[in-house]
Amino acid sequence: MGAVMPSGRVLARTMAQYVNVDSKEPVVELGPGTGAITNALIEHGVDQKRLVLVEYNPGFCALLRDRYPHATIVQGDAYTLRDSLWNVLNAPASAVVSGLPLVTKPMLTRLKLVRDAFGALAPGAPFVQFTYSVAPPIPRSLPGVSTEASERIWMNLPPARVWVYRKR
Ligand SMILES: C[S@@+](CC[C@H](N)C(=O)[O-])C[C@H]1O[C@@H](n2cnc3c(N)ncnc32)[C@H](O)[C@@H]1O
Repeated sequence: MGAVMPSGRVLARTMAQYVNVDSKEPVVELGPGTGAITNALIEHGVDQKRLVLVEYNPGFCALLRDRYPHATIVQGDAYTLRDSLWNVLNAPASAVVSGLPLVTKPMLTRLKLVRDAFGALAPGAPFVQFTYSVAPPIPRSLPGVSTEASERIWMNLPPARVWVYRKR
């Protein structure tokens, strides 16, 4: 199931808590939309200047540029992540946070996205993804990858869970 409405605050805060606020390195957000998770990242303490927001929809990009003037907004396709990020990342990212409705994509597309995200991330840094599904959006036992999950967030509509993948 894809997302039906902007992420709720508890879900967005849960995603943001996996991001290291002490780092100076970039934080990449995929599919920020109108900024529900972006706001939570900033409230969590992530400096807006660290944010690289990859959004497909030009209307949302215009809105994001207005709302987050110090962030880097990339109008591009998260599923061709290397192309979308090649000229904007000045250092390995300290997190990739995805608001994409990932489970609507075939598993091979999801795995390619995670592989490209690991290519952009510093070693051990998290790829953070929510899902409304009971099953994890990416298999939990990929070779060389450690996986953790939040509690199910019942307050979100629909209830959701956050999955975090790190390349060991
Ligand atoms: C369901 S909305 C989530 C918005 C916001 N992150 C939230 O949690 O409320 C999914 C967002 O991903 C964007 N999106 C979908 N496919 C994309 C792609 N291939 N590349 C970048 N953004 C994409 C959509 O335009 C939309 O803004």
